[in-house]
Amino acid sequence: MRLAKFLAHAGVASRRSAEQMIAAGRVSIGGAVVTDPARDVDRASGVTVDGEPIAPEERQVFVLNKPAGVVSTAKDTHRRPTVVAMVESANRLYPVGRLDAETTGLILLTNDGELADRLTHPRYGVEKGYHARVAPAPVSKGDLRRLRQGIELEDGRTAPASVRQLEPGRLEIWLGEGRKRQVRRMCEAIGHRVVELERFAFGPLRLDRLAAGGERLPPGSWRELTAAEVEQLRKVGESS
Ligand code: URA
Repeated sequence: MRLAKFLAHAGVASRRSAEQMIAAGRVSIGGAVVTDPARDVDRASGVTVDGEPIAPEERQVFVLNKPAGVVSTAKDTHRRPTVVAMVESANRLYPVGRLDAETTGLILLTNDGELADRLTHPRYGVEKGYHARVAPAPVSKGDLRRLRQGIELEDGRTAPASVRQLEPGRLEIWLGEGRKRQVRRMCEAIGHRVVELERFAFGPLRLDRLAAGGERLPPGSWRELTAAEVEQLRKVGESS
């Protein structure tokens, strides 16, 4: 991994500040000062900052059932609560992708940048499942077909999606991409407004089964994923 990225992952500083530290000669590898931020390093390289050994943070992944009104950016200019503030960790976490403030449901937080990339980059196509209540109801068969085949949006055509109407006006939508307000915009394009939106699935994870005993994770609740669950997530990123 590049030295600057390694320092950022280790929680030493942001990528930009890490580059400045390196340029200032504060970083050594195996006792020798290094000024190239692109130097390839790993845990075993013996990286120090101001003479202090750097141990990368333990990687953690948390799942949260995001309530409405909470934003999924790290900070909010309107002082609304953030998903990051809801989860307790000694590490600096960031959300894996975004949910709109009004969208509820499953969101992951991690300090593992590589995993976050795999889970959100459209190249890997990791599927996320949404339940959307729309008005007016019902959605016609023709419009369901349009949603499945792809909708022309201002940022391009959406990829084929799996869509079914569970009951009149209640849709289950699976997307392998995650553009801004995508479900809302797709539904608007066929003349339906989304009045409620919940993400109920992220790859192999289901909101319904994430609490202890395989129960539904209540709104506002969170927990750290087990090593086995993280491994499952890594696998979907690889196989997609
Ligand atoms: N699609 C949306 O429109 N909003 C979300 O929060 C997630 C997917």
